[in-house]
Amino acid sequence: MREIKRWRRVGQWGIKPLICSLVVVTAVAGCKQPTEGGTASGGNGTGGSNGTDASSVGKAAAYTGDDILLGEYGSLTGSTATFGISSDNGMQMAVDEVNGAGGVLGKKVRVQKEDDGGKSEQVGSVIKKLINQDNVLAIVGEVASSRSIAAAPICQAAGVPMITPASTNPTVTTIGDDIFRTCFTDTFQGAVGARFAGKNLKAKTAAVLTDVANDYSKGLGAAFIEEFQKNGGKIVAQESYSEHDTDFHAQLTRIKSTNPDVIFIPGYYTEAATIAVQARSLGIQQPLLGGDGWDSRELIKIGKSALQNCYFSDHYSPDSPDPKVKQFVTTYQKRFGEIPDAMAPLAYDATHLLLDAIKRAGSLDRDKIRDAIANTKNYPGVTGNISIDKDRNAVKPITILQVKGDKFTAFTTIKP
Ligand code: PHE
Repeated sequence: MREIKRWRRVGQWGIKPLICSLVVVTAVAGCKQPTEGGTASGGNGTGGSNGTDASSVGKAAAYTGDDILLGEYGSLTGSTATFGISSDNGMQMAVDEVNGAGGVLGKKVRVQKEDDGGKSEQVGSVIKKLINQDNVLAIVGEVASSRSIAAAPICQAAGVPMITPASTNPTVTTIGDDIFRTCFTDTFQGAVGARFAGKNLKAKTAAVLTDVANDYSKGLGAAFIEEFQKNGGKIVAQESYSEHDTDFHAQLTRIKSTNPDVIFIPGYYTEAATIAVQARSLGIQQPLLGGDGWDSRELIKIGKSALQNCYFSDHYSPDSPDPKVKQFVTTYQKRFGEIPDAMAPLAYDATHLLLDAIKRAGSLDRDKIRDAIANTKNYPGVTGNISIDKDRNAVKPITILQVKGDKFTAFTTIKP
């Protein structure tokens, strides 16, 4: 039941189900801790003090546009720029397809996009602009959990449905009934990583190096630790850093002295790749393991050979034999000149799903659209079938990717 099988051939896509005992890590997600640039808003919908205060936002004005205007916010620049750029590409693809097929409810779809620079403290003003000035119908974003947690209380207070395609921290969707995600959560992702370390890598001991300025990293690290220990593993070192740090030698030296079988690094690609380079320079040879935050073409550019044969969990593999994936990858590659990372199909799926919900709602009333999103069942996405559960989350398979040469190779897929 809990078996994780090696990826051997095409037909094994979607192998054995893994029964997952889900552990709620909301409490450890640390969303009330200070985050980069301020206080992240908590799960109570009251907003934070970093420009994300939802109290200054009233209900959004009724939607009166002649066309359908969606809001998009993301890190189009900054140290997580590939997150925002890939999502934007995926969103554009979905919108162009829908417009090519006649639009939604007879109207053309447009996107108003805003760059938050990858900074939580900029999210508040960006979201308020989308709602108060542009009067968008609904919002797609963010990728990073801390930034979705900053935006969600504002969207909730305004009654503007928000779908995050990629934020996996459990807290995001607890903020209110207007907030949805179309990806799995870190409760599942952390457990899968821990089981992979124990079963596939035969790790009995692990070190964890967490980004404490990042809600995603803290939640994913905690979920990994919980499951690893539950299965009899020992956590021999817990070290931390903050996003944008560049020198990890002190933490890595302490980790090295505990000689762990594996090192789990639940962070984003820029720091994860730098950590890998510095780990190898200190003579640390153990496998490094990460989550979806590693997924970027920049990972290998920065990490070079330091990440060879390391693994991370993700939302899809471009090598999947699924015809939907093949078609998406071919079309994307033709248009953008590269193999899409996970953010592109995630945003593509979230946008299509939202437009489909607007169609099903048959109305531009935001409450009806919210209800239609909540009622989504078995939407056939590139990143898997999407059903929205009662907590406004999606339950989807996870793919473990192995870094091989300059590629991420699908190693195994684990179903919830
Ligand atoms: N899951 C990450 C977060 O919540 C974001 C992410 C998604 C990064 C997919 C890469 C790929 O912060």
